[in-house]
Amino acid sequence: MFKRLSPPEATNEAVVTFRFDEQTVTARPGDTVAAALLTSGISICRSTPVSNAPRAPYCMMGVCFECLVEVDGNPNVQACQAEVRDGMHVHTQQGARRLTS
Ligand code: FES
Repeated sequence: MFKRLSPPEATNEAVVTFRFDEQTVTARPGDTVAAALLTSGISICRSTPVSNAPRAPYCMMGVCFECLVEVDGNPNVQACQAEVRDGMHVHTQQGARRLTS
């Protein structure tokens, strides 16, 4: 699938670490959440509301909304538009979106 030419741990660059569900994911500062997940071998980030089908980031530019995840308790975050932060908690978004007032 997707692979970095040189993983962040293998270089002297700073590394950002965050949680995705029960996994620890490392990324480079400035990576989007979607890029960090894909290069870590994680492709499923949400499931559809009707059939519960798994979905993965597709356009990587904020158009398709296939990459929705929950970040630090906030649902409906586009993973391809959100920059990684050290210590953030990202979760798979399951089913229908919650509406907030
Ligand atoms: S991958 Fe299409 S909006 Fe994020």
